[in-house]
Amino acid sequence: MNAPPPNDLLPEFPADFVWGVATSAFQIEGAAREDGKGPSIWDEFCRKPGVIADHSTGDVACDHYHRLDADLDLIASLGVDAYRFSVSWPRVQPHGVGAWNEPGLAFYERLVDGLLARGIKPYLTLNHWDLPAALQASGGWGNRDTVYRFVDYATQVAARLGDRITAITTHNEPWVMACLGHETGEFAPGIKDRAVATQVSHHLLLSHGLALQALRAQGCTSRLGIVLNLAPVVAATQSAEDQAIARLKDGRLVRWYMDPLFKQAYPADILEFLGRDAPRMEAGDLRDIATPMDFLGVNYYSRRVASAAGHWDPHAHGKPVTDMGWEVYPQGLTELLLRLDHDYALPPMYITENGAAFKDQLLAGQVHDDLRRDYISRHIAAVADAMRQGVRMQGYMVWSLLDNFEWASGYAKRFGIVHVDYATQQRTLKDSALWYREFLRQQKAKQMPGLVSLERA
Ligand code: FCB
Repeated sequence: MNAPPPNDLLPEFPADFVWGVATSAFQIEGAAREDGKGPSIWDEFCRKPGVIADHSTGDVACDHYHRLDADLDLIASLGVDAYRFSVSWPRVQPHGVGAWNEPGLAFYERLVDGLLARGIKPYLTLNHWDLPAALQASGGWGNRDTVYRFVDYATQVAARLGDRITAITTHNEPWVMACLGHETGEFAPGIKDRAVATQVSHHLLLSHGLALQALRAQGCTSRLGIVLNLAPVVAATQSAEDQAIARLKDGRLVRWYMDPLFKQAYPADILEFLGRDAPRMEAGDLRDIATPMDFLGVNYYSRRVASAAGHWDPHAHGKPVTDMGWEVYPQGLTELLLRLDHDYALPPMYITENGAAFKDQLLAGQVHDDLRRDYISRHIAAVADAMRQGVRMQGYMVWSLLDNFEWASGYAKRFGIVHVDYATQQRTLKDSALWYREFLRQQKAKQMPGLVSLERA
């Protein structure tokens, strides 16, 4: 791996660039059956034998639900501007339809007010995958009715909290919910049916557009957008087969979501590829999906290399990889942002997730996670590169604040800049967190030298 840019070589970002850390409800909250919360599809999925690598569940996770104030202090101690979190739909509406659960709403109200009291901007995600299980019983995201249930949920959350939220994201990573949840079945709800998966992607996009319209109609002043997991997809070789597979994978991962959102159409080559598995639509759906957004969130972890020979293993090709086996490829982030900016008329973008799992060791109260620190600093440099070339970027959020429940990998994969000892729930800042805090301090010092020296005095 190349050496990371030392702090003083990282450029100065604009004063209003937003620095944050991110989490999601199911991955950290625990309290799975408390205070009236209903089960989510992930609560149910975890109970199926063999689907989670370490047979774990989200029952306790980081116990964040019970440690809210201490965790908010932890976030504040990092000196970030923003915290990206998600609301658990079944915590605020246990069955996904009908009655609202007051203790659930009150929890998020405490979270938001606690952030504001500490000077941190709340970035709220409505759907980070934990659909109420009761809705799955009637078809989940494969059923068009769930679209309207989601709009109700969005308007309720916004009515309660919207006056204090900087930005609301409708969905986190629709590709993951559709493809991993409904085509490969690796993630909840564990369905393996491509026609269902494409229908799910259409309903997610439609519910996003309709929720935006409903929130604006009720006067919500938060900035509204969606978060996509995107990556450059490159062919392993120059062969026609590899080129064709790369084009197809790019179509399914990037264009399938970006084209309807920003060009009001699904890509023709992918519709043709899907054939009878293409989604059923109603008149006006594409117009609704393309409802203008205030921002686009991009989650970036690695590039994808497409090969007709099957899975392309970066490690076997001598590339640096993380503990997930994902290639460390920061320049892919610059390439991706330039391409999006070139191909689409976009609102400002945020990097809403970026980070890495590595095998950490907690020794004498310290975690020397140099690889994670280097990963983060090199990706921040990649964002700066894109900005230098004219791309409008407004923020960067590290995934993740805490080690947490990494979906089908369970607790074995650690993405946090803060270490969590799951036996004691002790939090320990890793070196990457100390580095991020210092990097942010230096950024602010460049922007407001007087203020920082006064604070230090
Ligand atoms: C993303 C998810 C997030 C986390 C990271 C590693 O796909 O949005 O919850 O699991 O990957």
